[in-house]
Amino acid sequence: MSRSSAAETRTRSSPSAILAAPGGGRLRRRPRRDKPPPRPRAGAHGVAHMAAHGATPPPGLGEVRDAERRLRGRIHRTPLLTCAGLDHMAGRRLLFKCELLQKTGSFKIRGALNAVRSLVEESERTGRELPRAVVTHSSGNHGQALACAAQAEGIPAYIVVPRTAPQCKQDAIRAYGATLVPCDPTDKSRAETASSVVQETGGVLVHPNQEPAVIAGQGTIALEVLEQAPHVNAVVVPVGGGGMVAGIAVAIKALRPDVKVFAAEPSNVDDCYQSKVRGELTPNLQPRDTIADAVKTSIGPNTWPIIRDLVDDVVTVSEEEIKRATWLVWERMKLLVEPTAGVGLAAVLSERFQAVPWDVQNVCIVLCGGNVDLRSLTWLTDLSGKAE
Ligand SMILES: Cc1ncc(COP(=O)(O)O)c(C=O)c1O
Repeated sequence: MSRSSAAETRTRSSPSAILAAPGGGRLRRRPRRDKPPPRPRAGAHGVAHMAAHGATPPPGLGEVRDAERRLRGRIHRTPLLTCAGLDHMAGRRLLFKCELLQKTGSFKIRGALNAVRSLVEESERTGRELPRAVVTHSSGNHGQALACAAQAEGIPAYIVVPRTAPQCKQDAIRAYGATLVPCDPTDKSRAETASSVVQETGGVLVHPNQEPAVIAGQGTIALEVLEQAPHVNAVVVPVGGGGMVAGIAVAIKALRPDVKVFAAEPSNVDDCYQSKVRGELTPNLQPRDTIADAVKTSIGPNTWPIIRDLVDDVVTVSEEEIKRATWLVWERMKLLVEPTAGVGLAAVLSERFQAVPWDVQNVCIVLCGGNVDLRSLTWLTDLSGKAE
């Protein structure tokens, strides 16, 4: 499907053609066509059949390099910043990979755009239609990124978002022209609602962290870090579903196996840590609340084997440690990170990290996102009416 025919498809779906979606959202009914379009199929990249079908072959360095080519010129090469005050506190030289300054405000555009561009390339190669929609479930950043990537290619996007997701993230998804479908804030509700939306729209599910093309896209962070700081000894990566840490680990261990990869995780949702300790995938069945809202989700069948084999260790941190680290980044670096991005620094400043040998001196921390809801900051709440 070309850009123009995707746009044509959109205008043909009349405003009255609306269906009630699971979880109270509203879906656009599929437009009428003379003959039914082909159902989405799994391509070489496996985008169409992710998640629900369990583990698929993990991406390797080749897929990460392909992602790098697809993303070239379409996203920012984010800076690597330093902060002497924080170096002093950590007793190591810290290198902050500023993905909060990435397009859409987080690293998530890497994976989402790689997935969408893979679909476009496959359609160009085979002459088959583009998918009629892309669908995902996301606490916000992946939804925002997929909406942005889909808009750039003229593909409708449906984003399933927990009702509790920060308002700024929901607003941003709408601003990229996507349809928002609310769900309950549980992994089960997210997955079920997204699968219903796929059925309704005939779209393709692009899982936020288990999709191989998404994992490969996130791995491009590592390629940049290795170029920007060849002297790096370790990379510390906040972990939710594990797409980012898995992609980074694949690239790092292929190119520089001497560089350590640490996952950093809130202890309130410590499924990655528990999985490593037990040697088997151990999802959070009842995750507790965390201020790091973007990493509440559990690692899954595609990211677990990579994490098991390639991630050196998982460091867990308390809510207080996350808040303090986030505050430190705001105050010392003047960077407006979201609390999830504070998880990496919290891990490096924690007592547990003292066990990491001191020759691991140059430590890169991925500041993964900056989509903080300013209205959630208590000292701004009184001002919110006046500020808008
Ligand atoms: C800002 C931010 N950091 C970290 C993560 C965790 O990424 P992953 O689910 O790939 O582990 C997310 C996921 O939504 C995110 O939005």
